[in-house]
Amino acid sequence: MSEPEVVYLKDYLPPAYTVETTHLTFELAPEDTHVKATLRMKRHPEREAGVPLELFGANLDLRAISLNGEALSKSRYRIDGERLIIDDVPDAFVLDTEVVIAPEQNTALEGLYRSNGMYCTQCEPEGFRRITWYPDRPDVMAKFTTTVIGDKATLPILLSNGNPIDQGDLEDGRHFVTWEDPFPKPSYLFALVAGQLEVVESYFTTRNGRTVLLQLYVEPQNLHKTEFSMGALKRAMKWDEETYGREYDLDRFMIVAVDDFNMGAMENKGLNIFNSSAVLANPETTIDAGFQRIEGIVAHEYFHNWSGNRVTCRDWFQLALKEGFTVFRDQTFSADTNSAPVKRIEDVAVLRTQQFAEDAGPTAHPVRPDHFIEISNFYTLTVYEKGAEVVRMLRNLLGKETFRRGTDTYFERFDGQAVRVEDFVNTMADVSGIDLGQFMRWYEQAGTPRIDVAEEYDAERQEYALTFRQHTPATPGQVADSKQPLHIPVRMGLLNGRGNPIELAVGNERPGHEMVLELREAEERIVFKHVAEKPTPSLLRGFSAPVILNFPYTREQLAFLVKYDVDGFNRWDAGQRLAQEAIFDVMHAIQAGEAPTLDDTLLDVFDYLLKTPDRADRAVLAEMLQLPSEAYLAGQRAQVDIDAIHDARAFVERSLAEQLHFHWQALYESNVTKAAYEPSFEQISHRALKNVALSYLCATGDEDALALADQQFKTATNMTDTRAALTQLVHRHAGERADAALKAFEARWSHDPLVMDQWLTLQATQPHPEALDRVKALMAHPAFSLRNPNRVRALIGAFSQHNHVNFHRADGEGYALLADIVLQLNKSNPEIAARLVLPLTRYQRLDEVHQQLMRGALERIRNQSLSRNLYEVIEKALA
Ligand code: ARG
Ligand code: ZN
Repeated sequence: MSEPEVVYLKDYLPPAYTVETTHLTFELAPEDTHVKATLRMKRHPEREAGVPLELFGANLDLRAISLNGEALSKSRYRIDGERLIIDDVPDAFVLDTEVVIAPEQNTALEGLYRSNGMYCTQCEPEGFRRITWYPDRPDVMAKFTTTVIGDKATLPILLSNGNPIDQGDLEDGRHFVTWEDPFPKPSYLFALVAGQLEVVESYFTTRNGRTVLLQLYVEPQNLHKTEFSMGALKRAMKWDEETYGREYDLDRFMIVAVDDFNMGAMENKGLNIFNSSAVLANPETTIDAGFQRIEGIVAHEYFHNWSGNRVTCRDWFQLALKEGFTVFRDQTFSADTNSAPVKRIEDVAVLRTQQFAEDAGPTAHPVRPDHFIEISNFYTLTVYEKGAEVVRMLRNLLGKETFRRGTDTYFERFDGQAVRVEDFVNTMADVSGIDLGQFMRWYEQAGTPRIDVAEEYDAERQEYALTFRQHTPATPGQVADSKQPLHIPVRMGLLNGRGNPIELAVGNERPGHEMVLELREAEERIVFKHVAEKPTPSLLRGFSAPVILNFPYTREQLAFLVKYDVDGFNRWDAGQRLAQEAIFDVMHAIQAGEAPTLDDTLLDVFDYLLKTPDRADRAVLAEMLQLPSEAYLAGQRAQVDIDAIHDARAFVERSLAEQLHFHWQALYESNVTKAAYEPSFEQISHRALKNVALSYLCATGDEDALALADQQFKTATNMTDTRAALTQLVHRHAGERADAALKAFEARWSHDPLVMDQWLTLQATQPHPEALDRVKALMAHPAFSLRNPNRVRALIGAFSQHNHVNFHRADGEGYALLADIVLQLNKSNPEIAARLVLPLTRYQRLDEVHQQLMRGALERIRNQSLSRNLYEVIEKALA
């Protein structure tokens, strides 16, 4: 294959021609859907006359093309790859095209495709070009009118963006509906759905008294899973009015649940399309974390109506403009709706485990990348999660109220426009008067900054000084020398020996018990005055910046912070650091062939937490009692020994389980509730504590504990408890009990693919060496299909991302399996293939033997003819 083209941010030019109105007509048929497009176009005011017209298209069978009503002969236009070029066009004209596409053959799930007989679309970022020839770029915004024609019996529901303005019956049993979207939009926000769907309806009254019809479209068998999302949608609508002053702007808001979907969901104007896993929930089928995930995604897509749709991106390099901001908005919504510290803990755990790993690997890129081969590869943790952290830092720097003035101004200034990251940041600078020039580096510089902090205490002068040194390691394309110091907000406080916060005095400032330091230089020293005794610093509270901060805490200090810090996040973080050190002690002992022991300080802290459970709120406590994951621990090592990390973590877990057995038992019993299930914060924290306790009890492998898990499995009335129990039985390798429970679960749930996904995942993630064979066997199970992204993620994704010991088997069989599957998906679904392969690219910190095996697997992939998606990732990984 010829080398794919690289697109650069610096080459941006406005489109030569824009579209004012887009009229589409779809005649739906599985193998030959006819799409007619009428585009009213005109020259862009900033571009000179006579420039050729450029449209994008892929896999289109062009049947007719005319300009101002005159059919174009072959000599008037040419097709070059994904471009159709017409050299000679006037300043204003109407272009008509007709193409034929085959939704049934569309396994990539981009553009128009079929899922369980239903037609649906995914156009972001560049799927619209698989529907019709179009200037498919986000800075071309047009008013869309769409007529959908289909068989009335099999496709009773015909949906598109906006409002229905006409409908009727046609001959041959067909019918049509015409939709009009009054808001100009880029093509990536276009949507069409057709199928045999049931609808659940409700209403929302906006703060200005407008009534909005809310519709949730699902397949009939899913009607019992809609209530929670409808509630979540209303909560999100209300929250966005209260928190950002944003009101919904159409008369109806539709959500459709689709089984085959590459991502979580999509914010198409007025017609959000969701992966069914991101919207369907019911206590019997969905775990607590699933409810919370769904609430967050429903809110996320709804929030896009302003941060994304009303104000959109100029080009795809600006993706974080809408995604970072919208993730930040959904994170704060969830924090306000549930437990703020727990939400922060969860989000930071994902960031530090997964985004930091991306930063440290070959696909590292800035929050705003400056070049790409395939933009679908950039829907990443860096753009989304680090992008959200950058917005959060802006709020930390500006303060809540000024930040809100900033967002108000941003929405007002840029409503209806396609803009850049600079437009957002400059607005924040304007309203606050803060110079954010240096801050822009957060968008341009890849990699995770490190901050090393050193302390000095001068008892005589009663001064305590902290020196901060920041640097960012090299990332692909950005050598270490090119990395500039960043503008970093560090929220902090000091504690005295009794655990009380110290009144801070810096220069002439008296900020109180807490302050936000703003680092700007490579090295900075801050002196605190009137400090009567050597304090313990609490740094980076609430994780106020996405950095790795190192302070030489003693273990006693970490234990002290767990007990006394006022910041819930930092209490948790101190405990995690302590656990990490204890685990690494054990790891070193194992590697040295010595007998490992459990660190006393960690044991004391757990003992303390378990004896005084009311000290923390229950939900935070459940987080504090969990050890850092193997993936997180691996991220802390310059050289990773997968097996040693696993064994060391298991040793610490088992030791805590045995030595605090009585407490775990008590914790379990005191958190059993009889109340009918609700996904309420209160109940969720009880279940979380109970199931953490169950996990420690089972870590001993005791027969009593496994019997308890078995009993919980048999009597549970909700999926949270069922799945927690089944996970213990399978992961602790409970033999007969595990097999019987897996069979019972399968018999009960084989009709529900989203539940069976969980069944696949918990088997794929078992630490036992039989996991790989189990995964292979499950690939032949009727519950699995390589065609459905959720199934692939549940089995293969879970195995390669969350089962380190087995994925990294010394015989390379884990890698071989992943490479085989990636090669199959390369043909059918390139976007999923390029995501799934990522664990194979993270070999840099492993030993030589593993590195060789992983590179070997990657080279085997490289030898095939690759999609643009996979090509880009593999080339980076083997560079
Ligand atoms: N904008 C969507 C969301 O974050 C994601 C769409 C991603 N699509 C893709 N093909 N990668 O809400
Ligand atoms: Zn989004």
